Amino acid sequence: MDVTVEDVTQVWPGRRGVDVVALDRFSHRFASRRFSCLLGPSGCGKSTLVQIVGGIETASSGRVRITDPAHREMVRPLGADSVMVWQNLNLFPWRSVLDNVAFGLEMQGISKTERHERSRTLLASVGLRGFEGHLPGQLSGGMRQRVALARALILERPIMLMDEPFGALDAQTKIVMQEELLRVFDETKKTIIFVTHAIEEAILLGDEVIVMTARPGRIKEVLPVDLPRPRSLEMVNSKAFGSLFDRAFHLIREEVMTSMAQQTMALETR
Ligand SMILES: Nc1ncnc2c1ncn2[C@@H]1O[C@H](COP(=O)(O)OP(=O)(O)O)[C@@H](O)[C@H]1O
Ligand SMILES: [Mg+2]
Repeated sequence: MDVTVEDVTQVWPGRRGVDVVALDRFSHRFASRRFSCLLGPSGCGKSTLVQIVGGIETASSGRVRITDPAHREMVRPLGADSVMVWQNLNLFPWRSVLDNVAFGLEMQGISKTERHERSRTLLASVGLRGFEGHLPGQLSGGMRQRVALARALILERPIMLMDEPFGALDAQTKIVMQEELLRVFDETKKTIIFVTHAIEEAILLGDEVIVMTARPGRIKEVLPVDLPRPRSLEMVNSKAFGSLFDRAFHLIREEVMTSMAQQTMALETR
């Protein structure tokens, strides 16, 4: 599925009647089966954009079209083909791991036998065989993140929207989850929009890195990442990776400075 974002502007009502322009005429085509990373300073509108694409929020102006490349004339309703994965996992603490993963299928009215079977298979594929009966609170952060991933994958939606999903994990667990996600992407070839503020993560995972400006969020530059797949963490040491990192770092540095200046000004005028 292609996600075409056209001139999307989002204005949030701010404190004391001062509106916040979170996105300013953002346009980009997130192509089918491509892994796109949105990289930008805190507050530049990344979460806003994925929420609009996921149909959770409605843009102030502009539009988002979801289309199957084979049937471009048919525009799909927002949200119907995508699934969101957040850092804040929203697992049900009282439900077993198996029933958390099976939740989406339960909502679709799929029988218990089938949904449990499919959940078991998926849990095994993310390395959680044997934990089906556990409660989320009995698992480590990394394992809970795998449950959240399995719960998203079970819906088999062609678009996955990921908003800093690994932001709260420790460094080692994060590496393992990145590898897990790379494997999932190679196997399923979904359209992935992945939000991050970590430059290395964006380059390691993405086919392209969309560097955003400080608020109001616009596209500063799109960096194509032509590192071969399957990707591995060793690539971080390659020359190609190094030059992509330098370029992204240079771009993002300017924006982080702008963003920090904005925050200081906001404090002063409070
Ligand atoms: N629901 C909302 N209501 C009001 N303001 C919001 C809302 N969501 C986000 N904002 C504001 O919009 C700007 C962009 O936020 P966000 O999209 O969360 O940025 P990012 O994910 O890049 O950190 C911020 O200034 C934030 O405070
Ligand atoms: Mg955010």
